[in-house]
Amino acid sequence: MTFSALETRGFIVLKSFLDTEDIARAIEEYNQIKVKRGIMQGRCVIMEKFGKLIDKISFETNLKINSINFGAAYFDTGVFTNSWHQDHEPYYKWQNSYDSINLWAPIIKIKSNISGIEIVPFDNLASKISKELLESEFIGKGAKSFKSQPTQTTVYDDEDGKTFTLDFSLSEISEIPEMSVGDAIVMRGDLLHKTQDANSRRVAMSIRATNGNGIITKEKFLSGCQRKRMMINANPKGFEMLNQLFLKEGRDTATVFDIMKNL
Ligand SMILES: [Fe+2]
Repeated sequence: MTFSALETRGFIVLKSFLDTEDIARAIEEYNQIKVKRGIMQGRCVIMEKFGKLIDKISFETNLKINSINFGAAYFDTGVFTNSWHQDHEPYYKWQNSYDSINLWAPIIKIKSNISGIEIVPFDNLASKISKELLESEFIGKGAKSFKSQPTQTTVYDDEDGKTFTLDFSLSEISEIPEMSVGDAIVMRGDLLHKTQDANSRRVAMSIRATNGNGIITKEKFLSGCQRKRMMINANPKGFEMLNQLFLKEGRDTATVFDIMKNL
């Protein structure tokens, strides 16, 4: 298995990454916790396997990944779908989406080619926009929403509040990996993605890891547009440690590990 596509395309697909026991544990976990907007927060049920995977990714690629940083989220198409975006909360927290991964694995799914995840590979995006735009707006970035139309795409940057237009539809360059129960896609944190469709019931487990040595700055945490401030204020528990270190203790910088060890 080569992981280099994480650098060039922003994702890799791992067939049969979860075994039947992993899947059973995840479904049990999913059934035990309550639905909140269709996203359910639970524990990571494959810590050891995920730990070995992030070691391999760090060894074989230039991504620095050494800290498993969330429990698990479960995404159920019966109650929640997502349109095109780059993730918001992890970017507001860790400020770097390149050294960050999201392992997304269906645990309930009836067919390999429906109700999965649709993505925009970075090499496809690079073929449509300038290197400067790719690097300044997309690589390692996050907190963006996209309105993809037949001939153009509006980009809403929910970090600094600006809006700009791309002269193509994201569906022109998107891909939908075929995934069955137990397969996993590992996506870099900056990958553009959406729910493929909600035409059938699908539940996916999502677990994340990032670079514990990454530096988070108070300046960037406190900067940004009104939407960023609203999203952070709406989730006091999620941002509790950043508020503690930067606002109450007055620090100017912290590492991801500083945040993690106090959770
Ligand atoms: Fe997402």
